Amino acid sequence: MRTVRDVDVSGRRVLVRVDFNVPLEDGEVADDTRLRASLPTITYLLERNAKVILCSHLGRPGGEVVEELRLDPIAKRLSELIDVGVIKAGDCVGEAVEARAKDLEPGQVFLLENTRFHPGEKANDHKFAARLAGLAEIYVNDAFAAAHRAHASTEGVAHLLPSAAGLLMEREIEVLRRVRENPKHPFAAIFGGAKISDKIGILDQLMDRMEMVLVGGGMANTFLKAQGHEMGESLVEEASLDTAREILEAAGEKLVLPVDLVVADAFDAEAKHHAVLVDQVPPGWRALDVGPRTVDLFREKLKGAKMILWNGPLGVFEMELFSKGTYAIVGTLAEHEAETITGGGETAAAVNEVNLADKMTHVSTGGGAFLTFMEGETLPGVAALGEG
Ligand code: 3PG
Repeated sequence: MRTVRDVDVSGRRVLVRVDFNVPLEDGEVADDTRLRASLPTITYLLERNAKVILCSHLGRPGGEVVEELRLDPIAKRLSELIDVGVIKAGDCVGEAVEARAKDLEPGQVFLLENTRFHPGEKANDHKFAARLAGLAEIYVNDAFAAAHRAHASTEGVAHLLPSAAGLLMEREIEVLRRVRENPKHPFAAIFGGAKISDKIGILDQLMDRMEMVLVGGGMANTFLKAQGHEMGESLVEEASLDTAREILEAAGEKLVLPVDLVVADAFDAEAKHHAVLVDQVPPGWRALDVGPRTVDLFREKLKGAKMILWNGPLGVFEMELFSKGTYAIVGTLAEHEAETITGGGETAAAVNEVNLADKMTHVSTGGGAFLTFMEGETLPGVAALGEG
Protein backbone atom coordinates (compact mmCIF):
# COMPACT_ATOMS: atom_id res chain seq x y z
CA MET A 1 0.00 0.00 0.00
CA ARG A 2 1.41 3.38 -1.00
CA THR A 3 1.65 5.64 2.02
CA VAL A 4 2.12 9.34 2.54
CA ARG A 5 5.84 8.63 2.95
CA ASP A 6 6.04 7.63 -0.71
CA VAL A 7 4.71 10.96 -2.01
CA ASP A 8 6.40 14.34 -2.33
CA VAL A 9 4.06 16.58 -0.39
CA SER A 10 6.27 19.62 0.05
CA GLY A 11 4.46 22.86 -0.74
CA ARG A 12 1.48 20.95 -2.17
CA ARG A 13 -2.20 20.97 -1.30
CA VAL A 14 -2.99 17.62 0.34
CA LEU A 15 -6.59 16.58 0.96
CA VAL A 16 -6.58 14.31 4.00
CA ARG A 17 -9.70 12.25 4.78
CA VAL A 18 -9.72 11.79 8.55
CA ASP A 19 -12.39 10.24 10.77
CA PHE A 20 -13.33 13.04 13.14
CA ASN A 21 -16.67 11.40 13.89
CA VAL A 22 -16.30 12.03 17.63
CA PRO A 23 -18.82 12.48 20.43
CA LEU A 24 -19.72 16.11 21.25
CA GLU A 25 -21.15 17.36 24.54
CA ASP A 26 -22.37 20.92 25.10
CA GLY A 27 -20.64 22.06 21.92
CA GLU A 28 -17.26 20.58 22.90
CA VAL A 29 -15.40 17.45 21.83
CA ALA A 30 -16.16 14.88 24.56
CA ASP A 31 -13.57 12.29 23.46
CA ASP A 32 -10.66 13.39 21.29
CA THR A 33 -9.14 9.92 20.76
CA ARG A 34 -9.76 9.98 17.02
CA LEU A 35 -8.30 13.50 16.74
CA ARG A 36 -5.16 12.43 18.53
CA ALA A 37 -4.93 9.30 16.37
CA SER A 38 -4.74 11.52 13.28
CA LEU A 39 -1.89 13.68 14.62
CA PRO A 40 1.02 11.61 13.24
CA THR A 41 -0.17 12.17 9.66
CA ILE A 42 -1.03 15.85 10.17
CA THR A 43 2.29 16.53 11.89
CA TYR A 44 4.17 14.60 9.21
CA LEU A 45 2.60 16.79 6.52
CA LEU A 46 3.18 20.03 8.41
CA GLU A 47 6.83 19.18 9.00
CA ARG A 48 7.18 18.81 5.23
CA ASN A 49 5.53 22.15 4.50
CA ALA A 50 2.40 20.71 2.94
CA LYS A 51 -0.82 22.72 2.75
CA VAL A 52 -3.14 20.47 4.74
CA ILE A 53 -6.84 20.28 3.84
CA LEU A 54 -8.74 18.02 6.24
CA CYS A 55 -12.18 16.54 5.63
CA SER A 56 -14.46 14.29 7.67
CA HIS A 57 -18.04 13.34 8.31
CA LEU A 58 -19.67 13.83 11.71
CA GLY A 59 -22.78 11.88 12.64
CA ARG A 60 -25.47 11.08 10.13
CA PRO A 61 -27.01 14.39 8.97
CA GLY A 62 -28.64 12.71 5.95
CA GLY A 63 -27.33 14.96 3.18
CA GLU A 64 -28.43 18.29 4.65
CA VAL A 65 -26.99 20.90 6.99
CA VAL A 66 -27.58 20.08 10.66
CA GLU A 67 -26.24 22.92 12.80
CA GLU A 68 -25.25 20.67 15.75
CA LEU A 69 -23.11 18.59 13.41
CA ARG A 70 -20.81 21.37 12.23
CA LEU A 71 -17.12 20.72 12.77
CA ASP A 72 -16.32 23.97 14.64
CA PRO A 73 -15.75 22.28 18.04
CA ILE A 74 -13.39 19.88 16.30
CA ALA A 75 -11.43 22.76 14.71
CA LYS A 76 -11.07 24.28 18.17
CA ARG A 77 -9.82 21.10 19.82
CA LEU A 78 -7.50 20.26 16.92
CA SER A 79 -5.95 23.75 17.06
CA GLU A 80 -5.08 23.07 20.71
CA LEU A 81 -3.62 19.66 19.92
CA ILE A 82 -1.38 20.76 17.03
CA ASP A 83 -0.71 24.25 18.32
CA VAL A 84 -1.58 25.68 14.91
CA GLY A 85 -4.71 27.76 14.32
CA VAL A 86 -6.98 25.58 12.20
CA ILE A 87 -8.85 27.52 9.50
CA LYS A 88 -12.45 26.28 9.45
CA ALA A 89 -14.48 26.30 6.21
CA GLY A 90 -18.22 26.97 6.12
CA ASP A 91 -18.75 24.13 3.62
CA CYS A 92 -16.69 21.34 2.10
CA VAL A 93 -17.10 22.36 -1.57
CA GLY A 94 -18.01 25.52 -3.47
CA GLU A 95 -16.33 28.66 -4.77
CA ALA A 96 -15.44 30.19 -1.41
CA VAL A 97 -13.84 26.95 -0.25
CA GLU A 98 -11.95 26.59 -3.54
CA ALA A 99 -10.65 30.15 -3.30
CA ARG A 100 -9.50 29.67 0.30
CA ALA A 101 -7.82 26.36 -0.53
CA LYS A 102 -5.88 27.97 -3.39
CA ASP A 103 -4.62 30.71 -1.06
CA LEU A 104 -3.27 28.31 1.58
CA GLU A 105 0.34 28.74 2.63
CA PRO A 106 2.65 25.81 3.41
CA GLY A 107 2.12 24.74 7.03
CA GLN A 108 -1.50 25.90 7.19
CA VAL A 109 -4.38 23.60 8.16
CA PHE A 110 -7.79 24.05 6.56
CA LEU A 111 -10.68 21.97 7.96
CA LEU A 112 -13.64 21.51 5.61
CA GLU A 113 -17.22 21.33 6.88
CA ASN A 114 -19.03 17.98 7.44
CA THR A 115 -18.95 16.07 4.14
CA ARG A 116 -22.31 14.43 4.92
CA PHE A 117 -24.10 17.79 4.62
CA HIS A 118 -24.13 16.92 0.89
CA PRO A 119 -26.10 13.93 -0.48
CA GLY A 120 -23.27 13.34 -2.97
CA GLU A 121 -21.03 12.13 -0.14
CA LYS A 122 -22.95 8.96 0.73
CA ALA A 123 -24.04 8.44 -2.87
CA ASN A 124 -20.37 8.51 -3.88
CA ASP A 125 -21.45 10.93 -6.58
CA HIS A 126 -18.76 11.51 -9.17
CA LYS A 127 -19.38 15.25 -9.52
CA PHE A 128 -19.22 15.77 -5.76
CA ALA A 129 -16.01 13.71 -5.54
CA ALA A 130 -14.55 15.81 -8.39
CA ARG A 131 -15.33 19.02 -6.51
CA LEU A 132 -13.51 17.71 -3.44
CA ALA A 133 -10.62 16.50 -5.59
CA GLY A 134 -10.43 19.94 -7.25
CA LEU A 135 -9.33 21.44 -3.94
CA ALA A 136 -6.05 19.55 -3.79
CA GLU A 137 -3.16 17.96 -5.68
CA ILE A 138 -2.78 14.84 -3.55
CA TYR A 139 -5.28 12.72 -1.59
CA VAL A 140 -4.36 10.94 1.64
CA ASN A 141 -6.83 8.62 3.33
CA ASP A 142 -6.20 8.33 7.07
CA ALA A 143 -9.79 7.49 8.01
CA PHE A 144 -9.52 3.79 8.80
CA ALA A 145 -12.72 3.98 10.88
CA ALA A 146 -14.68 5.10 7.80
CA ALA A 147 -12.89 2.91 5.25
CA HIS A 148 -15.77 0.39 5.14
CA ARG A 149 -17.90 3.14 3.55
CA ALA A 150 -17.63 3.65 -0.23
CA HIS A 151 -18.42 7.36 -0.02
CA ALA A 152 -17.13 10.23 -2.16
CA SER A 153 -14.54 11.41 0.37
CA THR A 154 -13.42 7.90 1.37
CA GLU A 155 -13.47 6.17 -2.01
CA GLY A 156 -14.50 8.36 -4.97
CA VAL A 157 -11.74 10.95 -4.55
CA ALA A 158 -9.05 8.28 -4.48
CA HIS A 159 -9.69 7.63 -8.19
CA LEU A 160 -9.29 11.29 -9.11
CA LEU A 161 -5.99 12.29 -7.47
CA PRO A 162 -2.63 10.66 -6.77
CA SER A 163 -3.50 8.94 -3.50
CA ALA A 164 -1.87 7.29 -0.52
CA ALA A 165 -2.64 5.94 2.94
CA GLY A 166 -1.97 8.05 6.01
CA LEU A 167 0.10 6.81 8.92
CA LEU A 168 -2.90 5.80 11.07
CA MET A 169 -4.42 3.89 8.17
CA GLU A 170 -1.09 2.18 7.57
CA ARG A 171 -0.74 1.13 11.23
CA GLU A 172 -4.34 -0.09 11.55
CA ILE A 173 -4.06 -2.25 8.43
CA GLU A 174 -0.62 -3.55 9.36
CA VAL A 175 -1.60 -4.61 12.90
CA LEU A 176 -5.07 -5.93 12.11
CA ARG A 177 -3.88 -7.86 9.04
CA ARG A 178 -1.30 -9.60 11.25
CA VAL A 179 -3.98 -10.49 13.79
CA ARG A 180 -6.30 -11.75 11.07
CA GLU A 181 -3.77 -13.67 9.02
CA ASN A 182 -0.79 -14.45 11.16
CA PRO A 183 -1.66 -14.36 14.87
CA LYS A 184 0.72 -15.38 17.62
CA HIS A 185 -0.29 -18.53 19.49
CA PRO A 186 -1.83 -19.19 21.93
CA PHE A 187 -4.26 -16.66 20.43
CA ALA A 188 -7.20 -15.70 22.65
CA ALA A 189 -10.17 -13.47 21.93
CA ILE A 190 -12.65 -11.78 24.23
CA PHE A 191 -15.98 -10.86 22.72
CA GLY A 192 -18.70 -8.82 24.37
CA GLY A 193 -21.32 -6.32 23.32
CA ALA A 194 -24.99 -6.81 22.77
CA LYS A 195 -25.42 -9.11 19.83
CA ILE A 196 -24.10 -12.41 18.51
CA SER A 197 -25.30 -11.43 15.05
CA ASP A 198 -22.69 -8.62 14.91
CA LYS A 199 -19.91 -11.08 15.71
CA ILE A 200 -20.78 -14.07 13.53
CA GLY A 201 -18.51 -12.89 10.70
CA ILE A 202 -15.47 -12.38 12.91
CA LEU A 203 -16.09 -15.67 14.74
CA ASP A 204 -16.33 -17.49 11.39
CA GLN A 205 -13.13 -15.88 10.18
CA LEU A 206 -11.03 -16.44 13.30
CA MET A 207 -12.45 -19.41 15.20
CA ASP A 208 -10.10 -21.97 13.63
CA ARG A 209 -7.09 -19.81 14.39
CA MET A 210 -7.95 -19.14 18.04
CA GLU A 211 -7.17 -21.36 20.98
CA MET A 212 -9.59 -19.57 23.30
CA VAL A 213 -12.76 -17.50 22.91
CA LEU A 214 -14.09 -15.81 26.04
CA VAL A 215 -17.60 -14.40 25.75
CA GLY A 216 -19.32 -11.86 27.99
CA GLY A 217 -21.74 -8.96 27.68
CA GLY A 218 -25.21 -9.22 26.20
CA MET A 219 -24.13 -11.81 23.65
CA ALA A 220 -23.27 -14.26 26.44
CA ASN A 221 -26.93 -14.22 27.49
CA THR A 222 -27.95 -15.66 24.15
CA PHE A 223 -25.36 -18.45 24.44
CA LEU A 224 -26.47 -19.20 28.01
CA LYS A 225 -30.12 -19.34 26.97
CA ALA A 226 -29.15 -21.63 24.08
CA GLN A 227 -27.62 -23.93 26.71
CA GLY A 228 -30.97 -24.02 28.49
CA HIS A 229 -30.48 -21.42 31.24
CA GLU A 230 -33.38 -19.19 32.29
CA MET A 231 -32.24 -15.62 31.66
CA GLY A 232 -35.14 -13.68 33.20
CA GLU A 233 -35.48 -10.23 31.61
CA SER A 234 -31.90 -10.29 30.24
CA LEU A 235 -31.27 -9.11 26.70
CA VAL A 236 -31.44 -12.27 24.59
CA GLU A 237 -31.29 -12.37 20.80
CA GLU A 238 -34.04 -14.95 20.26
CA ALA A 239 -33.49 -15.02 16.49
CA SER A 240 -29.86 -16.09 17.03
CA LEU A 241 -30.47 -19.02 19.38
CA ASP A 242 -29.95 -21.64 16.66
CA THR A 243 -26.79 -19.88 15.50
CA ALA A 244 -25.60 -19.80 19.11
CA ARG A 245 -26.12 -23.59 19.39
CA GLU A 246 -24.17 -24.15 16.16
CA ILE A 247 -21.29 -21.97 17.35
CA LEU A 248 -21.23 -23.74 20.73
CA GLU A 249 -21.09 -27.11 19.06
CA ALA A 250 -18.39 -26.12 16.55
CA ALA A 251 -16.23 -24.33 19.11
CA GLY A 252 -16.36 -27.01 21.80
CA GLU A 253 -14.23 -26.31 24.86
CA LYS A 254 -12.43 -23.32 23.41
CA LEU A 255 -15.56 -21.19 23.87
CA VAL A 256 -15.79 -20.06 27.49
CA LEU A 257 -18.98 -18.51 28.86
CA PRO A 258 -19.56 -16.65 32.14
CA VAL A 259 -20.11 -18.79 35.22
CA ASP A 260 -21.73 -15.97 37.18
CA LEU A 261 -23.47 -12.70 36.38
CA VAL A 262 -24.35 -9.46 38.08
CA VAL A 263 -28.14 -9.28 37.85
CA ALA A 264 -30.32 -6.24 38.48
CA ASP A 265 -34.03 -5.70 39.05
CA ALA A 266 -34.12 -2.90 36.47
CA PHE A 267 -32.02 -1.37 33.68
CA ASP A 268 -31.03 1.51 35.89
CA ALA A 269 -27.78 2.96 37.24
CA GLU A 270 -29.11 2.57 40.81
CA ALA A 271 -30.96 -0.73 40.43
CA LYS A 272 -30.88 -3.41 43.12
CA HIS A 273 -28.21 -5.88 42.07
CA HIS A 274 -26.15 -8.88 43.14
CA ALA A 275 -24.02 -11.63 41.64
CA VAL A 276 -25.57 -15.05 40.95
CA LEU A 277 -24.45 -18.24 39.26
CA VAL A 278 -25.66 -18.47 35.66
CA ASP A 279 -28.33 -21.03 36.56
CA GLN A 280 -29.83 -18.76 39.24
CA VAL A 281 -31.01 -15.66 37.37
CA PRO A 282 -34.23 -14.74 39.24
CA PRO A 283 -37.39 -14.30 37.16
CA GLY A 284 -37.88 -10.61 36.34
CA TRP A 285 -34.16 -9.76 36.81
CA ARG A 286 -31.61 -9.11 34.08
CA ALA A 287 -27.88 -9.74 33.67
CA LEU A 288 -25.96 -6.47 33.26
CA ASP A 289 -22.37 -7.56 33.90
CA VAL A 290 -20.25 -10.66 34.35
CA GLY A 291 -19.65 -11.67 37.96
CA PRO A 292 -16.41 -11.90 39.98
CA ARG A 293 -15.96 -15.65 39.45
CA THR A 294 -16.13 -15.08 35.71
CA VAL A 295 -13.48 -12.37 35.94
CA ASP A 296 -11.22 -14.81 37.81
CA LEU A 297 -11.95 -17.54 35.28
CA PHE A 298 -11.21 -15.28 32.30
CA ARG A 299 -7.96 -14.08 33.92
CA GLU A 300 -6.90 -17.67 34.45
CA LYS A 301 -7.75 -18.64 30.88
CA LEU A 302 -5.75 -15.71 29.48
CA LYS A 303 -2.57 -16.77 31.27
CA GLY A 304 0.08 -17.79 28.75
CA ALA A 305 -1.69 -16.23 25.75
CA LYS A 306 0.70 -14.58 23.29
CA MET A 307 -1.92 -12.52 21.49
CA ILE A 308 -5.25 -11.26 22.82
CA LEU A 309 -7.94 -9.63 20.71
CA TRP A 310 -10.78 -7.87 22.51
CA ASN A 311 -13.97 -6.46 21.04
CA GLY A 312 -17.05 -5.43 23.01
CA PRO A 313 -17.67 -4.61 26.69
CA LEU A 314 -18.58 -7.37 29.15
CA GLY A 315 -21.38 -5.38 30.76
CA VAL A 316 -23.20 -2.06 30.79
CA PHE A 317 -19.97 -0.29 31.71
CA GLU A 318 -21.46 3.19 31.34
CA MET A 319 -23.21 2.46 34.66
CA GLU A 320 -20.68 2.17 37.45
CA LEU A 321 -22.47 -0.73 39.15
CA PHE A 322 -22.15 -2.83 36.01
CA SER A 323 -18.68 -1.76 34.87
CA LYS A 324 -16.47 -4.05 36.97
CA GLY A 325 -16.19 -6.90 34.47
CA THR A 326 -15.20 -4.61 31.60
CA TYR A 327 -12.65 -2.64 33.63
CA ALA A 328 -11.19 -5.84 35.10
CA ILE A 329 -10.46 -6.95 31.54
CA VAL A 330 -8.90 -3.56 30.69
CA GLY A 331 -6.63 -3.96 33.73
CA THR A 332 -5.77 -7.56 32.91
CA LEU A 333 -4.82 -6.72 29.32
CA ALA A 334 -2.84 -3.65 30.39
CA GLU A 335 -0.61 -5.83 32.56
CA HIS A 336 -0.46 -8.82 30.22
CA GLU A 337 2.72 -9.71 28.35
CA ALA A 338 0.80 -10.75 25.24
CA GLU A 339 0.24 -8.50 22.24
CA THR A 340 -3.10 -6.88 23.10
CA ILE A 341 -5.33 -5.51 20.39
CA THR A 342 -8.72 -3.94 21.00
CA GLY A 343 -11.34 -2.93 18.48
CA GLY A 344 -14.67 -1.14 18.54
CA GLY A 345 -15.79 2.25 19.81
CA GLU A 346 -17.09 1.09 23.20
CA THR A 347 -14.02 -1.02 23.90
CA ALA A 348 -11.74 1.92 23.06
CA ALA A 349 -13.89 4.19 25.25
CA ALA A 350 -13.47 1.81 28.22
CA VAL A 351 -9.69 1.62 27.69
CA ASN A 352 -9.41 5.41 27.40
CA GLU A 353 -11.65 6.05 30.40
CA VAL A 354 -8.97 4.57 32.65
CA ASN A 355 -6.07 5.97 30.59
CA LEU A 356 -4.60 2.61 29.72
CA ALA A 357 -4.46 2.90 25.92
CA ASP A 358 -0.68 3.20 25.97
CA LYS A 359 -0.46 -0.14 27.79
CA MET A 360 -2.12 -1.92 24.85
CA THR A 361 -0.28 -2.94 21.72
CA HIS A 362 -2.99 -1.37 19.58
CA VAL A 363 -6.35 0.28 20.22
CA SER A 364 -8.13 0.36 16.88
CA THR A 365 -10.08 3.52 16.06
CA GLY A 366 -12.50 1.44 14.01
CA GLY A 367 -15.95 0.17 14.96
CA GLY A 368 -17.73 -1.09 11.86
CA ALA A 369 -14.49 -0.87 9.87
CA PHE A 370 -12.67 -3.02 12.45
CA LEU A 371 -15.32 -5.77 12.28
CA THR A 372 -15.55 -5.62 8.47
CA PHE A 373 -11.79 -5.92 8.11
CA MET A 374 -11.54 -8.74 10.64
CA GLU A 375 -14.31 -10.59 8.80
CA GLY A 376 -11.91 -10.80 5.87
CA GLU A 377 -13.74 -8.30 3.71
CA THR A 378 -12.09 -5.66 1.54
CA LEU A 379 -12.52 -2.09 2.75
CA PRO A 380 -13.47 0.12 -0.22
CA GLY A 381 -11.52 3.07 1.19
CA VAL A 382 -8.38 0.94 1.27
CA ALA A 383 -8.93 -0.83 -2.04
CA ALA A 384 -9.21 2.50 -3.85
CA LEU A 385 -5.85 3.83 -2.69
CA GLY A 386 -3.16 4.02 -5.28
CA GLU A 387 -5.61 4.05 -8.18
CA GLY A 388 -5.56 7.80 -8.82
C1 3PG B 1 -17.73 5.13 12.96
O1 3PG B 1 -17.87 5.90 13.92
O2 3PG B 1 -17.78 3.89 13.07
C2 3PG B 1 -17.36 5.71 11.62
O3 3PG B 1 -17.09 7.06 11.73
C3 3PG B 1 -18.43 5.45 10.58
O4 3PG B 1 -19.62 6.10 10.91
P1 3PG B 1 -20.97 5.64 10.21
O5 3PG B 1 -21.35 4.32 10.79
O6 3PG B 1 -21.98 6.73 10.49
O7 3PG B 1 -20.70 5.51 8.71
